[in-house]
Amino acid sequence: MTTTLLRGRTLSFIRWPDSVDDHGAYAYEEDGGLLLKDGRIVAAGAYADVAAQAEAGVQTIDHRPHLLLPGFIDAHVHVPQMQIIASYGAELLDWLNTYTFPEESKFNNSQHGRRIARLFVDEMVRHGTTTVVAYCSVHKESVQAFFAEAHDRNLLVLAGKVMMDRNAPAAVLDTPQSGYDDTKALIAEWHGRGRQHYVITPRFAITSSPEQMEMAGALAREFPDLHVQTHLSENHAEIAFTQQLYPWSKDYTDIYAHYGLLGRRTLLGHSIHLSEREADVLSDSGSVAVFCPTSNLFLGSGLFDYQRYRTREKPVRIAAASDVGGGTNYSMLRTMDEGYKVIALNGEKLNPLASFWQVTLGNAQALSLDDRIGTLDVGTDADIIVLDSGATPTMQLRMETVETLAEELFLLQTLGDDRAVREVYVAGRPAKSAMASILS
Ligand code: GUN
Ligand code: ZN
Repeated sequence: MTTTLLRGRTLSFIRWPDSVDDHGAYAYEEDGGLLLKDGRIVAAGAYADVAAQAEAGVQTIDHRPHLLLPGFIDAHVHVPQMQIIASYGAELLDWLNTYTFPEESKFNNSQHGRRIARLFVDEMVRHGTTTVVAYCSVHKESVQAFFAEAHDRNLLVLAGKVMMDRNAPAAVLDTPQSGYDDTKALIAEWHGRGRQHYVITPRFAITSSPEQMEMAGALAREFPDLHVQTHLSENHAEIAFTQQLYPWSKDYTDIYAHYGLLGRRTLLGHSIHLSEREADVLSDSGSVAVFCPTSNLFLGSGLFDYQRYRTREKPVRIAAASDVGGGTNYSMLRTMDEGYKVIALNGEKLNPLASFWQVTLGNAQALSLDDRIGTLDVGTDADIIVLDSGATPTMQLRMETVETLAEELFLLQTLGDDRAVREVYVAGRPAKSAMASILS
């Protein structure tokens, strides 16, 4: 396998950055080098030191003056919603009934599933996202199509078939037994194959009967190493309906607790309107609240209180995500730009170092995958992006007045999108430029 030496301004986080002046939170090399071999980073540091470790004649790619960062991680997306992104005029439950469920019913056709899986991975790579945690449709074939595409392109993804057996059209329903059987078959087929991870995925309490929730809990007990993902407390009408369906529960979070679905590998999409009791339960169980700012604004769902969850006496673990297609952009730069504004509406400011920590190391830690992804540490997978802070005339002009790394990152977050992503390496191989050459 080829060895590649990358040169550029390398940036990788070590821990949460407390402020723009917290220089101990990250490793930055103005003239940095990364040596990639067999899909891994085998050396990192100052370019001269790394180059000295490379064999003679190594292929060197000079990305100066651009930044080299770990690939972005998106902790919550819906693959079958690509063609309903930007659908007008509805809050969550109407949006699901009007747009989402009819759209997801198309995925009983595996040819459609394969086409969308390919286009989804294209969009991920174009936007610099190298790992997603994905919901596929209720149909087993949609998961097979997504894993097959990710596997072909050697991406580390986490994905699952939504389990849903009520309160939606028949075309997108399974049963407690078929949901369980299909999930088990998909785990056997895909979990641990290459870089693929299966996620147990009861859609949310509204679309799963108590019998199906029992089955999801049984799967979580049978496969304790697997992640679990679902939706929690996104919208007031959703919360009220959920309470009607599970009248015995203390609150929405209690339902997932009751069925054994909480824990350090559980990702709870949205988690906006949580009481102190619920936030304590998330904290005690180590479950992760997933911040989906573009979606929460687009659907009018509410303002996720990032700083409250982070700094309360019992902190809640947080991941960040696009939630495409309730979310409105594949870019984690656009996502954190909107995130910044949501946090501002809660009276706080998220410093730009913390934003970039969140979508790299922070999300990797939230997924308990930081030994593999989310940094440029030696021994981890070589998922790397090249960011150009002068990708547009607006950015170029603003760059003329930028003096610090934190200012540059804030500019990238506020003004950047897929155009700022010059190249993407997936397991050490160039993926964005390779894709462009196929299209042209
Ligand atoms: N709750 C249950 N399903 C969904 C979904 O597909 N998108 C969002 N935003 N919320 C949900
Ligand atoms: Zn979602």
